[in-house]
Amino acid sequence: MKTPEDELIQGATNTSTNKPFSKILEASASRRALVKGGLTAAAFGFIGPALRAQTPNPIVETRLGLTDFTPLNRVDAKGPWPKISEDYQFDVLVPWGEPLDETEPEFKYPIDPDDQVYQIGNGHDGMWFFPDPDPALANEQGILAINHEFASNAVVIGKGTPENLSDVRASQHTHGVSIVGIRKVDDKWQTYKIGSSRRIHVNTPVRFSGPAEDHELLQTENGNPPLGTVNNCGSGATPWGTYLTCEENFHGYFGATHDPEVWSPSELQSNYGFSENGFGYGWHLFDKRFDLSNPGYRNEENRFGWVVEIDPFDGDDVPVKRTALGRFRHEAACVVIGQNRRTVVYMGDDSQFQYIYKFVSDGDEALLRALGASPLDTGTLYAARFDDDNTGEWLPLSLENDKLSGEFNSLAEIMIDTRRAAELAEATPMDRPEWSSIGPDGYVYFACTNNSSRTAVTKANPEAPNRDGHIIRFRDAEHHTGLTFDWDVFLIASDTHGTEESFSDPDCIYIDPDGRLFILTDGTQQAGMNNQLLVADTVSKEVKRLFSGVTGDEMTGFTMTPNRRTLFVNLQHVGNGSLGNSDFPRLDDPPVVPRDATVVITRKDGGIIGS
Ligand code: FEO
Ligand code: CA
Ligand code: CA
Ligand code: CA
Repeated sequence: MKTPEDELIQGATNTSTNKPFSKILEASASRRALVKGGLTAAAFGFIGPALRAQTPNPIVETRLGLTDFTPLNRVDAKGPWPKISEDYQFDVLVPWGEPLDETEPEFKYPIDPDDQVYQIGNGHDGMWFFPDPDPALANEQGILAINHEFASNAVVIGKGTPENLSDVRASQHTHGVSIVGIRKVDDKWQTYKIGSSRRIHVNTPVRFSGPAEDHELLQTENGNPPLGTVNNCGSGATPWGTYLTCEENFHGYFGATHDPEVWSPSELQSNYGFSENGFGYGWHLFDKRFDLSNPGYRNEENRFGWVVEIDPFDGDDVPVKRTALGRFRHEAACVVIGQNRRTVVYMGDDSQFQYIYKFVSDGDEALLRALGASPLDTGTLYAARFDDDNTGEWLPLSLENDKLSGEFNSLAEIMIDTRRAAELAEATPMDRPEWSSIGPDGYVYFACTNNSSRTAVTKANPEAPNRDGHIIRFRDAEHHTGLTFDWDVFLIASDTHGTEESFSDPDCIYIDPDGRLFILTDGTQQAGMNNQLLVADTVSKEVKRLFSGVTGDEMTGFTMTPNRRTLFVNLQHVGNGSLGNSDFPRLDDPPVVPRDATVVITRKDGGIIGS
């Protein structure tokens, strides 16, 4: 049997002369010891990995570098058009408005809300490539599931506030999920017609399952059926071939009448940030389902904030909201089969001082599915507490937990107000946990993107304010199912500043089987750089820049073909919607509006992505 170390050595391709990231950390360690006087070096979790990298390590010493490509220079990573390492090339795929296949309506602008349900949405975010089941086709054909997190009214309808229901529908249909067939023809990826291609958006029928499925807090006065998903941010994929789409800033789509006598937020609504104007989308003005002050739709807002499972191969499948995974501003879902074939899902709540979670299924994944049950419906949800001795504990969010049993009447209530449960359980408030990924070293890596409001450092969140984010990692006992873990801070983004490898705001991350950590950023970068894709070696900590986006965008979503020779990433909110910032993707003549799109990246020599 191959060990993780074997995998790492096997995946090595060449040595590299790039400055190891561990050197940056070494330098920063002494700086921090001075800056934060009174704390010894050993008090900082981030020094742990750097010190380990300096001690004799047979893997580091015999292993060749994982990243042999020529990095994209810092000075080049800017401007209105993407830039890429000279060893790589990119192409544009499925921009906003592209028909799902050749039989559907072409993009036109302003968009038609009725056409938009047969076209790719905007705000491309998390995604996953489901290869064709035929191994001969798996690397050249499959289904792409893409989240469409958000697009502003200014971009979609050309004005800040909708004037009628048609405007609202245009906005609604631009959000959601696309399921689209893609294949490579003459070396170029393009869409093609498949039976299950479709758009899923905020008016698509959905259903609930798990502990809160029938709870009264998910029922409205009107008795209207559950509809839709929104602000689909990060994603995940299950070992059984389904897609998980994660509802993040769902609160921003609701609004209320401007009259405190009619509506003021309940405690539950306040825990999730609902407000009179939300993000200003104005959906509630013409679609009363999103009006918090409309008694007929009381509880409608509780139907959002979930992880939604979609079968990309079955166009008739009704998306299902898995309430056992809790309700919060779900960023992404990282699924692994743990000890005794129990399904484990790692998740973050991307808000300042919110928590890292994991769900552990009760039973054997294959057995449950053979019985027609979902491994995502019964189990225990936990929130993480990071202790200063670099150990941690998973705190059960259930009535078995004494801190919760007096506060909640049922597991369903805990799943609907998960944020309060995690707070009562005394989990560790984190710096906006976003995506996670599991390395061949067994560690779960978590991107904490930043936290401008932090005023005091903790060992697990060692910057105050945390302007540029960090990546923390932990290793669970009992192959992901245990109640304890050990952890350290893998890197602090600000430590790269002033170096060629400079980056800020890690958001989407993914680790390949060789131990390459891909980091996609979302936030203001140093030296005028656009958001970027970097590759870090999880053992040597060497970091290289592979690709950068366009002015005003963020880079997010990461999925590859099974042979890892083709990478798909997303450029989101390109040019912040303004042609003055970027005319990406230059498909319209003349350009009418920047359009978010997936970008297909390949190594010019056909090698493994990141090598
Ligand atoms: Fe949608 Fe936290 O990013
Ligand atoms: Ca985003
Ligand atoms: Ca994100
Ligand atoms: Ca982000």
